[in-house]
Amino acid sequence: KILILDFGSQVTQLIARRVREAQVFCEVHPCDVSEEWIREYAKDGQLKGVILSGSHASVYEDTTDKAPQLIFDLGVPVLGICYGMQTMAYQLGGKVEGGHKREFGFAEVRAHGHTKLLEGIQDFATGDGHGMLNVWMSHGDKVVELPPGFKLMASTPSCPIAGMADEARGFYAVQFHPEVTHTAQGKALLERFVLRICGTRADWIMGDYIEEAVARIREQVGDEEVILGLSGGVDSSVAAALIHRAIGDQLTCVFVDHGLLRLNEGDMVMEMFVGKLHAKVIRADASELFLGKLAGVSDPEAKRKIIGGEFVTVFKEEAAKLKAGTGGHKGATFLAQGTIYPDVIESGGGKSKKAVTIKSHHNVGGLPEQLGLKLLEPLRELFKDEVRELGVALGLPPEMVYRHPFPGPGLGVRILGEVKKEYADLLRRADAIFIEELRNFRDEATGKSWYELTSQAFTVFLPVKSVGVMGDGRTYDYVVALRAVQTSDFMTADWAELPYALLKKVSGRIINEVRGINRVTYDVSSKPPATIEWE
Ligand code: XMP
Repeated sequence: KILILDFGSQVTQLIARRVREAQVFCEVHPCDVSEEWIREYAKDGQLKGVILSGSHASVYEDTTDKAPQLIFDLGVPVLGICYGMQTMAYQLGGKVEGGHKREFGFAEVRAHGHTKLLEGIQDFATGDGHGMLNVWMSHGDKVVELPPGFKLMASTPSCPIAGMADEARGFYAVQFHPEVTHTAQGKALLERFVLRICGTRADWIMGDYIEEAVARIREQVGDEEVILGLSGGVDSSVAAALIHRAIGDQLTCVFVDHGLLRLNEGDMVMEMFVGKLHAKVIRADASELFLGKLAGVSDPEAKRKIIGGEFVTVFKEEAAKLKAGTGGHKGATFLAQGTIYPDVIESGGGKSKKAVTIKSHHNVGGLPEQLGLKLLEPLRELFKDEVRELGVALGLPPEMVYRHPFPGPGLGVRILGEVKKEYADLLRRADAIFIEELRNFRDEATGKSWYELTSQAFTVFLPVKSVGVMGDGRTYDYVVALRAVQTSDFMTADWAELPYALLKKVSGRIINEVRGINRVTYDVSSKPPATIEWE
């Protein structure tokens, strides 16, 4: 395995993703892990290499972190990226200089001499035959003097030491960011490091992973029973399918239907888990309860709190029943959750100092203690893409596994202001039409559907009425807005340039088929300054 030490860069997770894409297992841990921890982690030769991430800090500020000195004495290759290169240089006796103008953006890097890391990797060659790379840079400080034993590996006009290597010890470092997609050869470079230089095997494959995970779950759970909150979202669905594969009927899923789901969503979840997988699912139909609590409430955050709070209450009630044990059952002792690796990192499992919180959703943190249950989180080490791959491998339909994200409060935050059943019913039907047409329309150039070409698309209900005509009559009905965005991280997003023909079809169908809506608009706001959801 590969250890990635996180110095707080926003893109540390991307390093892990690229390494996992090379089918090599790796984990991100904070840069200040103890030497004792590292020794334990590296025991029996399990650790094949270390990557030091970037940071926003400067090596010369007193408060900033250094890599544990021990990693340079383990006898495994180390790759420093950006700040990771600077701290490597500094700690091994080179010199770093601060106070430069921040360099940010594309750069052309020239490779010097042969190193195992860059050999044969290039975007183009200069007239005199030097390999050149197009890379992404973002730094203020830079290395100005190589540490003893190192040779120059790469340079740019403004950063003469943009890469360095001590091949005898397997130490490599680059000032640019190979983990971001803007660095065209970045993936090749990281693959080269982990596979060839560290000598790992590309054996992180889903099929094997299922077997291992199933064995681990069986061992952890034994003959005890497990409860899981199924939401219909990707993470909880995949967790449910995996745990069900491992322990069958020892798992009971509780599906809290808050009445703010998409059209037929509840039935589809039941059909899949009960009909196809034969899992035990308790469907708690709480839509009346939720709508009752939401009556008269129009503030978005207040709505979120109510939905989150009620969700937990209903789930707890159901869980308490199961915990007590009924009909010959001993009662549950485990609570399973679909926590995935980015959640672990975000909530402090890693050390991303810059972690930005965008969602205040009703996660069920704290629930296991309140219920006196042990926690089972089988997806804790997987990234979203891996969770999806695992879902498909477990037999979940790709349409379910590759669905756009859906917020926990559901349609509750897509109906502006007060939530009413009438509004939810209209919105559900309009939204289903929009999604159906996004799946139908294909982009000629790529052959992909517009559902695949967008990251998130949905319909928003506006509780205002506008005038229209239909046949000979005047209508006075509600308005909906279509929203479709493209984004890689949901922190920034562009509105999607959907084809007019698609928009035309959707608006025509909604107005004709959904009595009560007579006007459709398209949201052309990007994030920032708008958010993806309207509330
Ligand atoms: P915004 O609207 O903040 O959304 O640009 C970013 C992403 O977060 C989702 N989102 C939520 N998810 N509970 C959730 O589980 C929420 O309260 C919530 N609010 C926004 C949103 O759908 C988008 O993917």
